[in-house]
Amino acid sequence: MATASRAFVLRQTRLRAVPGLEGIRLHLADEVLPLWGAVQRESGDPDAPLPYWAFAWGGGLAVARYLREHPEAVAGRRVFDLASGSGLVAIAAMNAGAEAATAADIDPFAIVAIGLNARANRHRIAAVGRDVLDEPPPDADVVLAGDCWYEAEMAARVLPWLRRVRAAGIDVLVGDPGRRYLPADALEEIATYPVRTTTELEDLALKTGHVYTVRMP
Ligand SMILES: C[S@@+](CC[C@H](N)C(=O)[O-])C[C@H]1O[C@@H](n2cnc3c(N)ncnc32)[C@H](O)[C@@H]1O
Repeated sequence: MATASRAFVLRQTRLRAVPGLEGIRLHLADEVLPLWGAVQRESGDPDAPLPYWAFAWGGGLAVARYLREHPEAVAGRRVFDLASGSGLVAIAAMNAGAEAATAADIDPFAIVAIGLNARANRHRIAAVGRDVLDEPPPDADVVLAGDCWYEAEMAARVLPWLRRVRAAGIDVLVGDPGRRYLPADALEEIATYPVRTTTELEDLALKTGHVYTVRMP
């Protein structure tokens, strides 16, 4: 199964540079919808999630840009990348000198993509394939979260978890390109970047990616 999934991801993507983040290469696809159909057929699951793992999303791109400019945020520290997708943010953290990175995503194909992308960028990244949002904070120094507020059900769970993370003394950085469910009042903006996304699902190819810390109530 793991071998078949790896072959599937490799067949459906091309290893290429990430716009605005030269130096990072990911296994990326061109179009979401045909790939989504292929995922449904491959997994036999008509309700399979969209293949987020085959694209670099605006929130993750913004966090990655921030880490390139501010490596001190993660250098020498243990990083946990929530909703990792392709693994982009974890890879950016390792490039910035993180001591270790763990990437979490609930999509089994994302776990495969994270492994392939980590290897393509010459990093070791641990991958967690379960939903951690009902669990205690991870054993990490910094939690990074790129593009988590695009869908209501997940959005409602992310902020409470990130607040638990912060209350445990762990730093939090999130990135978002202005998604519908972003809890803007609960966040403090620290940087913005123009980000060029890699999917036709976005309304604009060029967006503004915002990087935030989480305010405590
Ligand atoms: C829009 S993508 C962002 C990916 C990456 N951070 C980026 O910015 O390119 C959102 C990701 O969240 C994942 N996801 C959804 N619910 C999740 C949960 N409860 N825990 C972890 N990941 C989740 C999805 O599978 C998807 O890969």
